[in-house]
Amino acid sequence: MPDFNTILNTVFQEVTNQPDTGKVATYIPELACIDIEKFGIHLLDIDKNEYNVGDSQERFSIQSISKVLTLSMAMNLIGEKVWDRLDVEPSGDPFNHLSLLEQENGIPRNPLINAGAIVIADILVSELKNPKREFLEFVRQISGDTSIAYDEHVANSEKATGFKNYAAANLLKSYDNLKNDVLEVLDFYFYQCSLSMSCSQLCDTFYLFINRGKCKRQQDFLTVNQVKRINALMLTCGFYDEAGEFAFRVGLPGKSGVGGGIVALLPKKFCVAVWSPGLNKKGNSTRGMAVLERLTTLSDLSIF
Ligand code: DON
Repeated sequence: MPDFNTILNTVFQEVTNQPDTGKVATYIPELACIDIEKFGIHLLDIDKNEYNVGDSQERFSIQSISKVLTLSMAMNLIGEKVWDRLDVEPSGDPFNHLSLLEQENGIPRNPLINAGAIVIADILVSELKNPKREFLEFVRQISGDTSIAYDEHVANSEKATGFKNYAAANLLKSYDNLKNDVLEVLDFYFYQCSLSMSCSQLCDTFYLFINRGKCKRQQDFLTVNQVKRINALMLTCGFYDEAGEFAFRVGLPGKSGVGGGIVALLPKKFCVAVWSPGLNKKGNSTRGMAVLERLTTLSDLSIF
């Protein structure tokens, strides 16, 4: 393994020295208050060595990163049946666009865009007695951290302003691809997105995607085949209309969120989380992308 300690410190300095061209997300009012200067990196390798720099222990809103976790839980519960209601193709569109959904008769392109994640939320609402509690429990179990929690202010803030998601859920309902009540499914969706976690907690949670489905305590949560599929989806769909750019510059499967977090991983080697709230026009952290590009370049570790 390369000297991750030196690499993370070098990359952190390099990126801090550049002006941040990103902007904090404002369409969820509660996220608009975040300090754009926050910046942290955490890396966890397969042998459980940890390296970090900056605000790596501070919690932030993981937003769309949660879509990987709800997908994992849905696959864990109903396996391949998930794909009866969703496709696995990159959309090439922004995360909240709806035009393809209408053209393709209510079948979302993939589970990582908003419409797809709302179908996954619907599956969890159908399968679980108390979806919010049981999903939180699932995340606490795979991370081994019982302090992980929702941020109700963020959830309620999005509930008041998430008009595109109301449109997506209603469109899905009109195509009979939403089985439960629109408001009930969205309530769960807004909560999953409001999960508050640090870079360090994200690495603990995503360890199972580098460890063939086993969490840090070596407990099995996903099959090897399910992990292969979820990692493939992160590579092709994890950054929406910037998935190609991310593969081109970074070369790792990963997932971003409008809270400014990005998690990326190299199976059997390491997972890394970065947090910097300034976003580019496509909703991905500008500094996060820069950090990961330099990390894979300096370490000479990517899937390519
Ligand atoms: O549904 C939304 O718009 C947000 N809760 C999540 C979007 C998001 O994080 C997109 N990621 N880059």
